[in-house]
Amino acid sequence: MNKETITVTSPLLPNLDEFHEMLKEIWASKWITNNGSFHKRLEQALAEYLKVPYISLFTNGTLPLLTALQALRITGEVITTPYSFVATTHSIWWNGCKPVFVDIEESTCGIDPNKIEAAITPKTTAIMPVHCYGKPVNMDAIQAIADKYGLKVIYDAAHAFGVEVNGESVLAKGDMSTLSFHATKVYNTLEGGALVMHDEKTKQRIDYLKNFGFAGETEVVAPGINSKVDEVRSAYGLLNLKQVDSAIAARQKVAIRYREALRNVPGIRFFDDIPGVRHNYSYFPIFVDAEKYGMTRDNLYFKMKEHGVLGRRYFYPLISSFSTYRGLPSATSENLPVATKMANTVICLPLHHALSKDDIEKIISIIIL
Ligand SMILES: Cc1ncc(COP(=O)(O)O)c(C=O)c1O
Repeated sequence: MNKETITVTSPLLPNLDEFHEMLKEIWASKWITNNGSFHKRLEQALAEYLKVPYISLFTNGTLPLLTALQALRITGEVITTPYSFVATTHSIWWNGCKPVFVDIEESTCGIDPNKIEAAITPKTTAIMPVHCYGKPVNMDAIQAIADKYGLKVIYDAAHAFGVEVNGESVLAKGDMSTLSFHATKVYNTLEGGALVMHDEKTKQRIDYLKNFGFAGETEVVAPGINSKVDEVRSAYGLLNLKQVDSAIAARQKVAIRYREALRNVPGIRFFDDIPGVRHNYSYFPIFVDAEKYGMTRDNLYFKMKEHGVLGRRYFYPLISSFSTYRGLPSATSENLPVATKMANTVICLPLHHALSKDDIEKIISIIIL
């Protein structure tokens, strides 16, 4: 990649000397995986940071989605949105369930609670909303529907690390929530993820499931999977946790500058902060109205690229338009007008803790024609 290229994100990396010290400890202990001491420390530190009582580490953000559906014995149909990363819908498919797509709200890009009830059938057993870009969905409205119809709620909170509403973590809601600690996320453990639950029994069951279903040396209680996190990544995760607050603060500064510069550009729309929400500034999506802006989204995207600025069209194409899913009755664009519009107009601008002032101004000057 060209030295001058500005990428959409840049991984938060721990201090190499500190990491080396931890590696020495791991080498000395000769305990490199299977619930070692760094693994235990990271689970505890994350539970404290995220203000949740129970959390289980996973090797990525996809396996907790798969495992949550398994643990809750979800069958039949699962309501979700197509405006997400493919893993959300794939997890439903891999559990032998049918994804049912519901449209999103323009204000958050999350599922529109007003459209959920119409998608419920006798086969519906769960709702899987996504806190897209870390913007909290309307969790009270979703829970009210789930309670009324006896449905489980599994939040894909892959983007919502550290996001709080009125001082409470978004991860406290629903039956379970999942996180991704992929390199591109606000907080990363190289690859990684987690599942958040609300009681000890469920944590125990999840810990069995992520270790092949083993509940002791010789007993297997369920058809589990392998999602055990090793000591090296756990140590890395502990170090990154120390700097995640300053990374979020740096991201916030970039978002503030983007908003200031782009507020009055005709045809460019973006999200403002929501009062009472602690945002994590994981993404900075802009939505391009071609008529008012004088250029299509794709033309702007390629213009940025020509100048070495790599925005990303998250989430385009919609999951519902991929070959596996486009035959589903709920996958039509008539059923998904808002998601279709957002997918066709979005560009996520570069946003990370290490973006320089010069780079920010360069990106802005390309967008301001
Ligand atoms: C919304 C969403 N769900 C799930 C995932 C899957 O996470 P991972 O890549 O860690 O498996 C991602 C991310 O990459 C995501 O953005």
